[in-house]
Amino acid sequence: MALLFLKARMALELPAINRALTDLLQELPAPARRAATHTVTAGGKRLRPMLTILCSRLFPDEGTARPEKRADGDIYRLAATLEMLHAATLMHDDVIDNADTRRNHPAAHALFGNTEAILAGDALLSTANACVASYGSPRLCEVFSRATAETAAGEILELHALRNAHLAAGEYRSIIRGKTAYLIRAACEMGALHAGATDAEVAALGLYGEALGMAFQMVDDALDVADAEVIGKPSGGDLREGKLTPPLQLYRDSLSAEEQALFNAKFTEGTFTEEEISRICQEVRNRGFDEQVRSLATSYLQDAEKALTILPKSKEHDILLEILTYVRDRKH
Ligand code: IPE
Ligand code: IPE
Ligand code: MG
Ligand code: MG
Repeated sequence: MALLFLKARMALELPAINRALTDLLQELPAPARRAATHTVTAGGKRLRPMLTILCSRLFPDEGTARPEKRADGDIYRLAATLEMLHAATLMHDDVIDNADTRRNHPAAHALFGNTEAILAGDALLSTANACVASYGSPRLCEVFSRATAETAAGEILELHALRNAHLAAGEYRSIIRGKTAYLIRAACEMGALHAGATDAEVAALGLYGEALGMAFQMVDDALDVADAEVIGKPSGGDLREGKLTPPLQLYRDSLSAEEQALFNAKFTEGTFTEEEISRICQEVRNRGFDEQVRSLATSYLQDAEKALTILPKSKEHDILLEILTYVRDRKH
């Protein structure tokens, strides 16, 4: 699939998303601006704000009675708050993971230090919160706050699981649901809530977003073994950081019992050399374990597709379907 609708709509919406982000960055307290602006303007696919816009536009202005419909609220500002929350989690995540490159630029903490990066991330998050509150909808605030809390909880679960060579499949799912899927789910729900969608419609888009988010993170884990220039962050980060992601599990499980024991010992101790890390990444790619993980992610993409069936058919509906293919095949 050529993803023509998605690409065209992205090109159309991006300038307005970026304008809203620039305006909101000006609302940050001045000392927090440089680190936050550095991260937000360094690039990024803007997937989350795009989802908010699409999920809002899925529901046309006229027709069915949608009493909560807020014609006055600006969807771009609301969409931008999801990117701000995302950027704040990236600033914090790069401190947590001790990762120095993000979006092909130095991570904020590498330029401004850990303390400033953490505090600027907090300010970014709080300014986004204030913007969401200005829409006057307790449900929007609730969804946004819950996504923030769940993202933090997912990162803590991951912290507790670091260097555990015997991570269970259920634990992995809880980690990625928290650290990635909740935010993507919130992006979809908030668009629908803003448009005055019914509870059933909001719930359907919530399911879509959560399943999409699960697949998105699995594909991210597959991409972790790709070239650094392509993904905009160091290759092999998960192995270096002690995260037993699905492609690494598949690789480990393919080894002989003796080799597995050695892998587990080095993984637990964090003693893989840079040479070993790059050799393992290459092995994962050569033996197609990354592609295998993309296939595993398709079961979530099918759940996401099913969730869309009760929703109105429209151009946006088609684009939400295209996003499933985009996530499965994405190269960065
Ligand atoms: C990176 O998210 C963090 C994860 C949840 C895997 P993206 O891949 O959406 O990062 P940007 O926004 O495009 O930089
Ligand atoms: C992604 O975590 C989720 C968050 C940023 C909260 P990762 O640590 O796996 O993502 P990358 O690899 O740094 O983008
Ligand atoms: Mg990270
Ligand atoms: Mg992390």
